[in-house]
Amino acid sequence: MAKKTLDDLTDLRGKKVLVRVDFNVPLDAAGNITNDRRIRAALPTLRKILDAGAAAIVMSHLGRPKGDPQKDAPLRMDRIAARLGELLGRSILKADEVISPTVKAAAHQLKPGGVLVLENLRFHPGEQSGDAAFAAELAQLGDVYVNDAFGTCHRKDASMVAVPAAMKGKPRVVGALVAKELDILDRLLSKPPRPFVGILGGGKVSDKIGFIKALVARVDRVLIGGAMTYTFMKALGHNVGASRLEADKLDLARELLELGKGKIELPVDHLVVTKIDAPQTARIVEGDIPADAVGVDIGPKTIAAYSEAIQSAALVVWNGPLGKFEDEPYSKGTREIARVLAESKGITIVGGGETAEAVEEFGLADKMTHVSTGGGAFLEYVEGTPFAALAEIDDK
Ligand code: 3PG
Repeated sequence: MAKKTLDDLTDLRGKKVLVRVDFNVPLDAAGNITNDRRIRAALPTLRKILDAGAAAIVMSHLGRPKGDPQKDAPLRMDRIAARLGELLGRSILKADEVISPTVKAAAHQLKPGGVLVLENLRFHPGEQSGDAAFAAELAQLGDVYVNDAFGTCHRKDASMVAVPAAMKGKPRVVGALVAKELDILDRLLSKPPRPFVGILGGGKVSDKIGFIKALVARVDRVLIGGAMTYTFMKALGHNVGASRLEADKLDLARELLELGKGKIELPVDHLVVTKIDAPQTARIVEGDIPADAVGVDIGPKTIAAYSEAIQSAALVVWNGPLGKFEDEPYSKGTREIARVLAESKGITIVGGGETAEAVEEFGLADKMTHVSTGGGAFLEYVEGTPFAALAEIDDK
């Protein structure tokens, strides 16, 4: 690891450590946490800081607030702080502002082993504009800066870039989670064991252009699923019925298919329905999709073929569900592929976002070699995008 990590800091006793985490967790309509994986993923770093006799000032964004205090209320950090307190087994101070004299005083008074969680960083306009004055206020709170927010490393928000920039001269390191994510991705992508298989699902080809290109350049095979299947099929001149597709991205799909010639594999059969909300009409079709049908999942022959490819792979990287898995009747393809991955003897890497959520929901996350906490960050890192946030971390 070329960047300094928390392990490189030997004396944290009595220090105030400003930790940027990614606690941007999924919430239900009432604002309850539906999956706390990202909070649990930051615990090793936080425990290390607290056990070393330091205090932690924890900051994160949550969702995409619109600046309307009433509508944004579910995005306050109170529930997150409460969950963190439960997981750490200690009482946590929660600030009701991001920066203010009260926050400053609370940070100042923190004792070794104390934890202060700041309010949602994006409640302050300076966070997403990368404002230097806002960053300077945050920077004042800590003696040490730790970036443990892998899921946000592709963003240039103030807490990711301007805050460590303002703390130049003080130690600026990555935490255990970021170190682990970078280590595993760097190691596997620079010298992948072969056969190396990519599984690519999700809705839109256009969301993952760079990722698809990067994957195609590295892997031996790419197995396609999810709604992007129908865009690729249409681009090849097949009928896709009433399936969801990106009609204006057919040229792009053709370009990607050309790049991935001999590597990209499309489903040979599909689960289709006459209407999305009519699972009783589900049937399997092979090849083209009839005019009255909507594709919702990969079919059994595709599941069998993809399973075989996974079983013989030394490394599998998976991003994107293979069907409309959030609806139980259409979840079989995603579930079966997750199960085969969990049982595979090869190395299995699952990209974050909804793929990670699916694997968690199936109770299979612990059976994977690595489930990334990064959604967009995972895709961009694999693409090779340099992260400004990491450039601000001290080199070893
Ligand atoms: C994510 O969930 O991908 C990160 O927390 C970044 O969130 P953002 O896409 O709202 O910047």
